[in-house]
Amino acid sequence: MVTAIYPGSFDPVTYGHLDILKRASALFDKVIIAVGTNLRKHAMFSLQTRLDMLKEVTGGTENIDPYPNVEIKTFPGLLVDFAWEQKAGAIIRGLRALSDFEAEFQMALFNRHMEPGISTVFLMPHARYTYVSSSAIREIAQYSGLCGSKEKDLSEFVPPIVAERLKEYFKR
Ligand code: COA
Repeated sequence: MVTAIYPGSFDPVTYGHLDILKRASALFDKVIIAVGTNLRKHAMFSLQTRLDMLKEVTGGTENIDPYPNVEIKTFPGLLVDFAWEQKAGAIIRGLRALSDFEAEFQMALFNRHMEPGISTVFLMPHARYTYVSSSAIREIAQYSGLCGSKEKDLSEFVPPIVAERLKEYFKR
């Protein structure tokens, strides 16, 4: 039984993340989505809201099938410590473009240095998501309907519940 960890900030989760998750859940017996803290980023959504959104979009909705072998957890410290505690054999990371490579390469090698028994596996999302990022989604949502711009449709990139949360956040 091989468990894989799919870590990230998921601020918020996008269809790009779900695409990677689907590929990972077909390859591994169990996939744990691990919501962690990137000390170089200031999260927009609280940890609880990010978790709630992930639970809703992986539990099966009208346009997304449920993911039966996926669990969602948070971890406070180093990713490799969490992966080790969970007896995981692999860490999944999505590679969208060459620009992702350098940072991912460094992270994978540091993680392997700290825990040689855990390998990082890179998966590519569908081409339609290669330019999607959570920060671009947040930025478009923030300006949508403001400064004379029309409200923007993000339904190609994020599930309805996430679009709704973004709207609520920026209304406040
Ligand atoms: N679809 C859409 N977006 C994707 C994506 C995909 N398939 N794959 C990656 N991304 C985007 C994310 O949306 C995010 O975008 P943003 O920067 O615009 O918000 C970006 O790629 C990368 O973010 P994420 O995948 O969340 O990872 P991260 O680089 O923020 O790292 C952790 C998050 C939690 C995995 C990492 O900081 C960590 O391991 N922290 C714990 C401490 C630790 O162990 N550090 C040692 C590292 S060597």
